[in-house]
Amino acid sequence: MALATQLLYDIDQIRSDFPILNEKINGKPLVYFDNAATTQKPNSVIQAIKSYYETINANIHRGIHTLAEKATAEYELTREKVGEFINAESSEQIIFTRGVTESVNLVAQTYGRAFLKPGDEVIISAMEHHSNIVPWQMICEERGAVLKVIPINDEGELLMDEYEKLLSAKTKIVSLVHVSNALGTVNPVKEMVEKAHEFGAVVMIDGAQAASHSHIDVRDLDADFYALSGHKFYGPTGIGVLYGKRELLEKMPPYMGGGEMIKEVSFAKTTYNDLPYKFEAGTPNIADTIALRKGIEYMEGIGFEAIAAHEHELLVYATEMLTSFPDLKIIGTAKEKVSVCSFVIEGIHPQDIGIILDSEGIAIRTGHHCTQPLMDRFKIPGTARASFALYNTIAEIDKLGKGIEKVLRMAK
Ligand SMILES: Cc1ncc(COP(=O)(O)O)c(C=O)c1O
Repeated sequence: MALATQLLYDIDQIRSDFPILNEKINGKPLVYFDNAATTQKPNSVIQAIKSYYETINANIHRGIHTLAEKATAEYELTREKVGEFINAESSEQIIFTRGVTESVNLVAQTYGRAFLKPGDEVIISAMEHHSNIVPWQMICEERGAVLKVIPINDEGELLMDEYEKLLSAKTKIVSLVHVSNALGTVNPVKEMVEKAHEFGAVVMIDGAQAASHSHIDVRDLDADFYALSGHKFYGPTGIGVLYGKRELLEKMPPYMGGGEMIKEVSFAKTTYNDLPYKFEAGTPNIADTIALRKGIEYMEGIGFEAIAAHEHELLVYATEMLTSFPDLKIIGTAKEKVSVCSFVIEGIHPQDIGIILDSEGIAIRTGHHCTQPLMDRFKIPGTARASFALYNTIAEIDKLGKGIEKVLRMAK
């Protein structure tokens, strides 16, 4: 298994691109398995931020001086890159936000507020992140609409026949997670979009966990809206994306008011800017947007198939290792899943697992993973979650195994 991993790409070379992987934590080499929370950043991303501030820092779009033009060009290049990355029809349909949270709120507060009527229905699923639950609860309450939830089975897969039963002429919006952060499940979103469209509903997809593992094609999915967080696919924090179909974005009212999102302002009347600027009020996060492009280019340089194959090997190896512990149970065993292993150990609180592993330099996440209703569904307070990225190794998973042995010795 380790041999096959080496054949896919030079893992040592890859690891040397991520300076943080040389850090020692509690005297031990860092083993970073909290990638579903945020991935680490390659040198090219870190250097892009530094280089922006050192050489072209200026406010964009409004300046005619050289620096402003350079900064604007770099910023807009990222918009084009993101458009290509997700196969959008046009880069004008790429709106920069702070992340998935802001993208979902944007759609709920503009499309939702403008088009939901009392009695309309919004469908989400039982495995949504809070950021794809609460914005819909808020707007449903405001508009008198009803929130419906697709249930899941014990493996952590959506019950598709239940989904079909929920769909009706009342369904106006379906908002679904593409890949679950807590379970790793990859949902059949293409099929689900098709079914929602039969009822005239629009579909938003939360792609927070999808972009680091696979190639995304919004046109193939026929998604109406698709949301991304840059920091989850090797880019910086504080920069995210909302893709939308042009006809929807055009009929939506703006989100925030201010500079940049206007065409003309007078005290009597304001007219709004064209796409995408209508949704980008104020000075944006210029440096991080520019660096986001470097993160995408980094993944492209390795190749999505190689990344997916490498991570699949890690998943298979880790699953085998974890299931060899009799008292350990993996939560989330869907047939289609990415490299996320959530688990519980009988009689040991997930937090204790996390603390003991941290003493070995192993960073995992513990708790409800912002999916409290999902934890309720499994009748657990939370899990310990190890999530793997393109730079992780089989040897690191072996260290996790040794760490779990220590957990069992110390906490049982
Ligand atoms: C599935 C999923 N959706 C949404 C989010 C929210 O992303 P952000 O905090 O970057 O807005 C996360 C973050 O963990 C996530 O995993």
